Amino acid sequence: MNRILVTGGLGYIGSHTCVALIEAGYHPVVIDNLRNTRISVKQAIEEITGKPLEFYQLDAKDSAAVSSSIENIDGVIHFAALKSVGESIEKPMEYYTENLESLLSIIQVANEKKAKSFIFSSSATVYGDTEESCVTEETPLGKPLNPYGHTKILGEKILQSGKQKFKTIVLRYFNPVGAHESAKIGELPNGIPNNLVPYITQTAAGKREKLTVFGNNYATKDGTCIRDFIHVVDLAEAHVAALNYSEEMIETVDVFNVGTGKGNTVLELIETFEKVNKLKLNYSIGDRRPGDIEAIYTATSKIESTLGWKAKKELPTSMKDSWEWEKSLWK
Ligand code: WQD
Repeated sequence: MNRILVTGGLGYIGSHTCVALIEAGYHPVVIDNLRNTRISVKQAIEEITGKPLEFYQLDAKDSAAVSSSIENIDGVIHFAALKSVGESIEKPMEYYTENLESLLSIIQVANEKKAKSFIFSSSATVYGDTEESCVTEETPLGKPLNPYGHTKILGEKILQSGKQKFKTIVLRYFNPVGAHESAKIGELPNGIPNNLVPYITQTAAGKREKLTVFGNNYATKDGTCIRDFIHVVDLAEAHVAALNYSEEMIETVDVFNVGTGKGNTVLELIETFEKVNKLKLNYSIGDRRPGDIEAIYTATSKIESTLGWKAKKELPTSMKDSWEWEKSLWK
């Protein structure tokens, strides 16, 4: 099992996963339509790994073009999707079309190419408005909070409907943060960042006036929301562990939550960012953001015992790497 089709492979998580794949001896075959990234990420991956990256600028919805461009593949990691919660609320039909059509198209390619495994990029957002703060893979999926989350729930159901010729592993990401230690790849938000950490780093860089903390009247230790912030390099390595496992798995479909197993509040993250980078962040407390849940983080016993994977990097490292990446964008 060597040649792995990586859709959206020049994106934030995709690019870090390509590095991890190459370092583990796999050969990523990358497609990306460059809608949410830059071609310079390809060169950055090549600089980090010292290897040429097989890349095709293609849209994952175009199964015919993908099929005819790539030769044989042994496995698939499907990242290509729109992923902004806020934007999905404004443009629901664009999200359903883009995310579901690309998934159906890549499933078709995987079956045509007789791929043995299919790793699907899902999200903690599938738990919706769950009452449970610490979730496991058995936690019932909540009511979808937004169209983006709904496309992830539907994607999981399509893959779990079975009848595929490949083994499927669903990876539910919690909150990916940080960047590769080389500061050559990292998160490249389009426009105003929706997510916390890129907004923090852009504020620290003076690109944004001030960070607004969305609410401090939640029932948590300091009133701000709790999340499971996982370093993107750890998350990337979870994909390698999943691919390795897929070669021996008995079930046709399996699901894993990918997080650190720890929850941190928004204020704890801000304080960690300030401390490790020796700076003061300009922020104030504002109103709650509609749709936010109070607390969510994951138990990690299943992924640790089955995939033998555990997050290694702690929050200070994530905050240091995020800041080094932001500073690299000034060069
Ligand atoms: C985290 C916390 C905010 C911005 C979503 C998706 C998930 C994944 C990550 C795609 C919340 C607070 C944020 C700000 C703030 N996306 N916050 N001020 O909402 O947990 O998860 O993004 O893969 O699927 O659901 O992440 O980073 O937006 O917010 O106070 O300017 O930071 O209220 O508590 P979220 P987030």
